[in-house]
Amino acid sequence: MISFENVHLRYDTGISLRDLNFFIDKDEFVYLFGPTGAGKSSILKMIYMDLFPNDGQVEIFNIGSSKVKRKEIAHIRQRIGMVFQDFKLLMDRDIYSNIALPLELRGLKPNEIRSKVVRKADEFGLRSRLNHFPHELSSGEQQMVSLARAVIDSPDILLVDEPTAHLDQESAAGVTDAIWKVHDSGTCVVFATNKVELPKREPARTISLVSGEIIIDREL
Ligand SMILES: Nc1ncnc2c1ncn2[C@@H]1O[C@H](COP(=O)(O)OP(=O)(O)OP(=O)(O)O)[C@@H](O)[C@H]1O
Ligand SMILES: [Mg+2]
Repeated sequence: MISFENVHLRYDTGISLRDLNFFIDKDEFVYLFGPTGAGKSSILKMIYMDLFPNDGQVEIFNIGSSKVKRKEIAHIRQRIGMVFQDFKLLMDRDIYSNIALPLELRGLKPNEIRSKVVRKADEFGLRSRLNHFPHELSSGEQQMVSLARAVIDSPDILLVDEPTAHLDQESAAGVTDAIWKVHDSGTCVVFATNKVELPKREPARTISLVSGEIIIDREL
């Protein structure tokens, strides 16, 4: 499903990620763990084909980064949900429209969109917030909206980048529980975090990075 083979990424600043080799299967939950600057977000961006390696190859759904076409990138992204650290919600749209966005882009009919969005909002405890705007929600609720939007179109892969960074303990637990539920329903999850408590509390395969290199790849 996700394969990194001898991947090197060099930024103009001279900072690099080196010799990344790993394979993630379709039913896995994997933490990308490491301190700030270790390379977690860069790896997520390479999976999302937003960033391309200088050497080696990233393969997503058997499509290789070295010869991928623009059209294929769009298809790959349709099958990947992404949750960003800073939510990236559309502030001028209400919660309903934020969650509905991927379905609108795919051209689904309004009544189909409505039933999917309402179902997802129920699942994520957002039903009463659908007509509100992002600024009217707490950070934890905004992160839930961002998660609901990422999974509304049933992606095969969910990428989450420090989803609990700005949340208090209780909201953070709600968000991680919701991510585990997404995994339990059959989605591959790659979860970037710099908090060792997460893999300690909910153990799973953990790819640990330091300064752009993988130092450990096993359950912590
Ligand atoms: N666009 C860029 N140009 C130059 N260097 C970059 C760029 N993006 C990231 N870097 C550098 O690459 C390294 C890895 O960055 P990355 O954002 O992947 O780390 P991270 O593990 O996600 O960190 P954080 O926990 O702070 O989010 C860092 O040293 C960073 O400064
Ligand atoms: Mg990051």
